[in-house]
Amino acid sequence: MKHDIITDAKKSISGAVHTDRRHDSAEKHVTGRAEYCDDIAEPQGTLHAYLGTSTVAHGLIRSMDLDAVLAAPGVIGVLTADDVPGCNDISPTGQNDEPVFPVGKTEFHGQPLFAVIATSRDAARRAAELAKIDYEVLQHALDPVSAMEADYPHVTEPLKLERGDIAPAFDTAKNRIKGRMTIGGQDHMYLEGQIAFAIPGEDDDVVVHCSTQHPSEAQHMVAHVLGVPSNAVTVNVRRMGGGFGGKESQMNLFCAVAAIAAKKWNRPVKIRPDRDQDMTATGKRHDFVVDYDVAFDDTGRIEAVDGTFAARCGYSSDLSGPVTDRALFHADNAYFYPNVRLTSRPMKTNTVSNTAFRGFGGPQGVVAAERMIEEIAYALGKDPLEIRKANFYGDRNDGRLLTPYHQEVEDNILPRLIGELESSSDYQARREAVLQHNARSSIIKRGIALTPVKFGISFTATWYNQAGALIHIYNDGSIHLNHGGTEMGQGLNTKVAQVVADAFQVDFERIKITKTTTEKVPNTSATAASSGSDLNGMAALNAAEQLKERLVAFTAERWNTGPETIRFHNNMVEIGSELVSFNDLVRQAYMARVHLSAAGFYKTPKIHWDRAAGKGRPFYYFAYGASCSEVSVDTLTGEYRVERTDILHDVGKSLNPVLDKGQVEGAFIQGMGWLTTEELWWDQAGRLRTHAPSTYKIPLASDRPRQFTVKLAEWSENKERTIKRSKAVGEPPFMLGISVFEALSMAVASVADYRECPRLDAPATPERVLMAIERLKNRE
Ligand code: MTE
Ligand code: HPA
Ligand code: MOS
Repeated sequence: MKHDIITDAKKSISGAVHTDRRHDSAEKHVTGRAEYCDDIAEPQGTLHAYLGTSTVAHGLIRSMDLDAVLAAPGVIGVLTADDVPGCNDISPTGQNDEPVFPVGKTEFHGQPLFAVIATSRDAARRAAELAKIDYEVLQHALDPVSAMEADYPHVTEPLKLERGDIAPAFDTAKNRIKGRMTIGGQDHMYLEGQIAFAIPGEDDDVVVHCSTQHPSEAQHMVAHVLGVPSNAVTVNVRRMGGGFGGKESQMNLFCAVAAIAAKKWNRPVKIRPDRDQDMTATGKRHDFVVDYDVAFDDTGRIEAVDGTFAARCGYSSDLSGPVTDRALFHADNAYFYPNVRLTSRPMKTNTVSNTAFRGFGGPQGVVAAERMIEEIAYALGKDPLEIRKANFYGDRNDGRLLTPYHQEVEDNILPRLIGELESSSDYQARREAVLQHNARSSIIKRGIALTPVKFGISFTATWYNQAGALIHIYNDGSIHLNHGGTEMGQGLNTKVAQVVADAFQVDFERIKITKTTTEKVPNTSATAASSGSDLNGMAALNAAEQLKERLVAFTAERWNTGPETIRFHNNMVEIGSELVSFNDLVRQAYMARVHLSAAGFYKTPKIHWDRAAGKGRPFYYFAYGASCSEVSVDTLTGEYRVERTDILHDVGKSLNPVLDKGQVEGAFIQGMGWLTTEELWWDQAGRLRTHAPSTYKIPLASDRPRQFTVKLAEWSENKERTIKRSKAVGEPPFMLGISVFEALSMAVASVADYRECPRLDAPATPERVLMAIERLKNRE
């Protein structure tokens, strides 16, 4: 077949990289045809499990009488610590401090103590209420401050980051401010809650369908609790209805319970807690108490920072080590600290064990950095943006580019990004207008803030930065794509399929996106740290390139031509001036016995981290962003609304701009919710009282900014050789929500003529805003 290269070059495959492409499941999501774990048809005889939980925050369990539970209608049996055939531990970091069910002692209110297995979920749930447990109540500490006062231990070794010498800098500095900030936690509020569905097989085998960001960990945990090798356990995940970090380790419990029960009774077992139990029994974002001490000159330039970051980790370590580490890694945000000392205090508390949540401790560090900026601005009577600019990382000329962990900031694009947002949002004129409005208006006050984000990309646990993929080309030319990443709504599968479509130059529709399964790609990392497309995109590209190499070698031989004359293009393969369809070529390659399946692999280069020394290059690169928000506050009630938000965010050369924008919008709103309305509240007894949407308030559609403009920095390109020069997007824009928090702070400050930093704690609920207004008014 002859062809005209000129006309053909204009055509391009569908779903090419760097083009908009809707989420591959978008229609299925909105029409209800997307299959989630709970939609999988249940085999006959499926049983259902429910957790029975502790009603004290800290206590010895004198006795646990489950007779009434066992006698309840539909109940098949119960599981306690005694029924764990292997090791009774599901700690994701191997610290052996997180039992499936505890023995003799409960360490938080709502801790799972046993499970009921029944013929229906309703029967199991009702029966779980009938346990009679006798406790000897012990003293408890619920928050990091009371834990420190009670000399509670750290759940894991604290981290210290140090550079320069803070003592002389504090001695000689013209200005110094010390303060404390409390930063609240956050519930993940994924639409689909935790769920696991285990189907027993022959010998030791079990297959677990579950909603997890980390299938390999679920697999290894199930093997560990069953006391069987990992090769007996298969974990499958087609998609999650949101994870946000809450399914990086928290599904271990549910997978373990379902699998133990499935093996014990040799029946399929499903466990799905209701929302209240999901909220009380699984971990959340860590809340922090940060003590800061900052020295600065009269222009607002920071000279030294000393910060202590105490976190409510809950009763076990879970991921608290890396989370509190990441808080320190981001306690500089975008700013150069000439002398700095940062210390983490991962405190044990008698609360649910806190876990990963979008940003993974980073947002808490960034908020603290921005609080220090605010303190300086109010102390000097300047615009916080001016203080921000004075403290940005610099370049080789000024030498201001070393982070507290001794990694250089090599591609600081923030000055340009901030400059562009400052003009596109008309920041200066609008700030002037806000000041004038506040001078005239006594009740409704306004505030505006423009805040930056710099976020480090890579798992700080260096070995996690690896990924695998598996691609088959069937002999009809259709392509089967599998990789170790999981889909939670972020669009990872779409992006990775775009990469593969681009590599073969075939239409996106030709690529079958398949469920994540430990049977196809082993030893995967969690889809977390925003690294999903960086890692799995590269692994898939590696697999595709192996296959292309084989196809090219075959073609060169068959057509007796040089490999350089062969080009994949628009569902065809050009061989010199001849054109063969991709399908034809694949068919011929199959007939010639070419291997049409390949496993790809990728590991992130350049990174290393020495935790004991606090030095290294933990991050491959940084992602940047900035947002400008304007709010109005009713000073009589504390109620507020976001009038306008403008965002400019850096995703390098975007793989899929429309998906990335969706990530930026969603992350901003989620970050705003964290800092405004989402308040977790435990009573004195340690009982979570905000355990359902009735009392825990995530942002609604009506809370979005009245005017909302989101742009990607189209000129940005990753300086590192990432997948198609893109940058990770999942977590960094979460911190853009800080602009709302700081704008609220300005509105509050206006009631005392901006002479004092309002020191709002997070979340700045209307109640807190009102209290801050009253406090500042009374200073007059
Ligand atoms: N977007 C949606 N829709 N749902 C989610 O659960 N999780 C976030 C982010 N965006 C999440 C999301 C978190 S915490 C991370 S780490 C990344 O997606 C993970 O996916 P990625 O690495 O593919 O970006
Ligand atoms: N980010 C997210 N999840 C993680 C990390 C991290 O840095 N380390 C281990 N799990
Ligand atoms: Mo995201 S908190 O790294 O799952």
